[in-house]
Amino acid sequence: MHSFRYVGKELSCEGVTIASLVKKHGTPLYVYSQATLEDHFGKLHAALEPLDHLICYAMKANSNQAVMRVLANAGGGFDTVSEGELRRVIAAGGDPAKCVFAGVGKTEAEIEFALKAGIYCFNCESEPELQRINQVAARLKKIAPVAVRVNPNVDAGTHAKITTGTYENKFGIAFEKVEGVYARAAKLKNLRLRGLQTHIGSQLTSVKPFEAAVKKLLPLVQKLAVKYNFEFFSIGGGLGIIYNPALASSDAKWWQSAAAKDILTPATYAERLVPLLQPLGLRILIEPGRFIVGNAGTLVTRVEYVKKTGKKNFVIVDAAMNDLIRPAFYDSYHEIVPLTKKGGATVSSDVVGPICESGDYFCKDRPLPKVGEGDCLALLSAGAYGSVMGSNYNSRSLPTEVLVHGKQSAVVRERQALEDIWADERVAGWLK
Ligand code: LLP
Repeated sequence: MHSFRYVGKELSCEGVTIASLVKKHGTPLYVYSQATLEDHFGKLHAALEPLDHLICYAMKANSNQAVMRVLANAGGGFDTVSEGELRRVIAAGGDPAKCVFAGVGKTEAEIEFALKAGIYCFNCESEPELQRINQVAARLKKIAPVAVRVNPNVDAGTHAKITTGTYENKFGIAFEKVEGVYARAAKLKNLRLRGLQTHIGSQLTSVKPFEAAVKKLLPLVQKLAVKYNFEFFSIGGGLGIIYNPALASSDAKWWQSAAAKDILTPATYAERLVPLLQPLGLRILIEPGRFIVGNAGTLVTRVEYVKKTGKKNFVIVDAAMNDLIRPAFYDSYHEIVPLTKKGGATVSSDVVGPICESGDYFCKDRPLPKVGEGDCLALLSAGAYGSVMGSNYNSRSLPTEVLVHGKQSAVVRERQALEDIWADERVAGWLK
């Protein structure tokens, strides 16, 4: 579910119209729904209920303090990838003991910080990293909990830039090498081999690759769990969401087709994976980002100009690729809807931002209701990898973010002041 829908003719988030938020806060504006965050977290929690489990929200998807607090309050842990993220967890009231630390390039300082914070586990990506963690732990007279990230060489069938589980990628340790790596790691005195981890990619819309990866890894996990007294097995994140409902619902027969049973939902995920995982008797971790927050956020933008060229109708808006880079970077689709429902004919339109790059677009040749200067549009499913991937390109400030809860709304990030964009910059002394 998500909580962005038309109430009468007005696009609303839970009990608040988006138009009223625009009036108060201007545009571009990110709007998040607390109910959607809680619902998605709750659905995964319920799906995994038969297992001893921990949901470590992959905060790289959206690390706004308010979003984090909602998920911490719901009992979530966090999948972190930097000292900055771990510090954010602590600032948001999250529990480091429910955090994993992932990433291929952990620095010594990051390892030290994470060890002192008392994280649940380091997900390790190479042998030199295991050695480095061991050294830091020895220096601090601590035992570091570690898991090796296994690359199962299973193609997730997703966009090339977000596939991680094949040998073409920099991630994890090859399946065939893992036993040897654990055997050598077991000799390092300041490590505790706490579990095993895998993650095959992001935005998976079929449950099949997850099933294939888990099936492939099961015998290995079983064997190593006994040998090293594992506590957990993490199957990573990657659960996809529906960005384009037209694709999912246009063909009613398709839902009854053989392929439909593979569509990833919390129900199919649980149905296919829980029976495989339960006999392990281990704690199961998952690290979903997008599934929890993707459809819980919208980017609202205002039309500045409509420009017709020979062939095209360009709708020029005040949000740009610096606010939401996904279409430019991954050719991704975001549904675009007006704040006030419009009937009538549609116009094939390119919605573009003001940045001086042809890649600065949100859609191309899409049939959209006719809009004019001052109308606002909502780019849906922008909660994950939206604001967090924002930049100050073209010296544009990062937008305001608002959290909605029922009929209440609160600013959870102030619009960045323009002067703050260059506040950290210095003119070299000899130029003065
Ligand atoms: N665990 C690991 C080790 C990861 O690398 C990732 C995502 C996740 C969990 C969470 O994946 P999720 O559940 O959100 O799919 N910026 C891209 C997505 C990059 C994903 C990076 N890793 C996008 O906008 O589509």
